[in-house]
Amino acid sequence: MQSGETSAPAVLSAAFGRAPLTIGVTGGTGFVGRSLITRLIAAGHSVRAATRNAARADALMPLSSVEVFAGNVDDPAFLRRVFDGCDAVINLVGILNERGFGGGGFRRAHVTFVAGLLQAMRQSNVRRLLHMSALNADAARGRSYYLRSKGAAEQLIHAETALQWTIFRPSVIFGAEDSLTTRFAALLRQSGGWLPLARAGARFAPIFVDDVALAFLRALDDARAVGTTYELCGPDVLTLGQLVREIARAARLPCHVLALPDAVAWLQGAIMGLIPGKPFSLDNLRSLQTDSVCQQDGCQALGIRPASLKAWVPLWLAPSPADGTAPDARADRV
Ligand SMILES: NC(=O)c1ccc[n+]([C@@H]2O[C@H](COP(=O)([O-])OP(=O)(O)OC[C@H]3O[C@@H](n4cnc5c(N)ncnc54)[C@H](OP(=O)(O)O)[C@@H]3O)[C@@H](O)[C@H]2O)c1
Repeated sequence: MQSGETSAPAVLSAAFGRAPLTIGVTGGTGFVGRSLITRLIAAGHSVRAATRNAARADALMPLSSVEVFAGNVDDPAFLRRVFDGCDAVINLVGILNERGFGGGGFRRAHVTFVAGLLQAMRQSNVRRLLHMSALNADAARGRSYYLRSKGAAEQLIHAETALQWTIFRPSVIFGAEDSLTTRFAALLRQSGGWLPLARAGARFAPIFVDDVALAFLRALDDARAVGTTYELCGPDVLTLGQLVREIARAARLPCHVLALPDAVAWLQGAIMGLIPGKPFSLDNLRSLQTDSVCQQDGCQALGIRPASLKAWVPLWLAPSPADGTAPDARADRV
């Protein structure tokens, strides 16, 4: 889909293709948010970013046209102040693991938060929402608290009749500042290349963070994106084991994947879920029970040719020629 070819009703199209916009962003201090906000600013838009902690927004501060609001993002009155005067809202808030157990943390971050956000949007009269969900989100049948709470948030959005929503469901996202390729590379480096891996056969179609950001920008500009859910996948479908081997190859590290039987993987999830920060958990393991691959091509619908992980990861994982060690994220190159 390209903007400018729309046959959508005039009442919708009036708000589209009208730059510059003022956009309220929640969850914008994270990995995806930093990339997306940079692109929004480059496209001439202004951003009002809500965060729980101003220090988290340090990376956004040098960007002109970004106003940071630090406060209680769970309070709709606070969000309303952020959204007042905005043309659209982008929600990127999400967690991969909760502090406690039992799913309450996922419901708070994904469902209760979205209910408050929708209330704030109603009160500040903002009708356009771009919302980040995840592949396999399903309130009833999702395998994990993560996937069920992401699905429940989508249901809340669908029920909002006056809302012009667009939902994005990406597979796993990679980029120079991700916690996927950089974390596996660090683990391989620390372990001399030996990696016990749960669900090594689970399949993913990793998508580049810049392509995700571009999908949001295209949708912002296109009335046909209203009421549409886009699945976002990259061109390479890889098992988790293959993904780790690609990362090792790019970082020029030895790699010996030990595919764990499910019973051992459950034990790994249970033990690692007790470590502060939860590097891995039973909920992650449950999410891995469903392949994270697309059923429809959201990138194509938005006119995006997604970048290949195999081609890009060496840019930030390959050892630097100077000292033979892997460089820090080379964000300036991507
Ligand atoms: N990365 C991936 O591979 C991937 C794949 C599929 C879907 N997604 C989804 O994409 C979105 C962005 O992901 P990301 O990788 O950029 O995540 P991230 O780096 O962890 O950033 C998430 C942001 O959400 C905010 N946040 C976290 N917990 C919160 C809570 N309890 N209440 C309110 N705000 C909270 C944080 O903002 P403050 O600390 O500034 O408040 C943080 O900057 C998420 O919704 C995630 O589920 C990501």
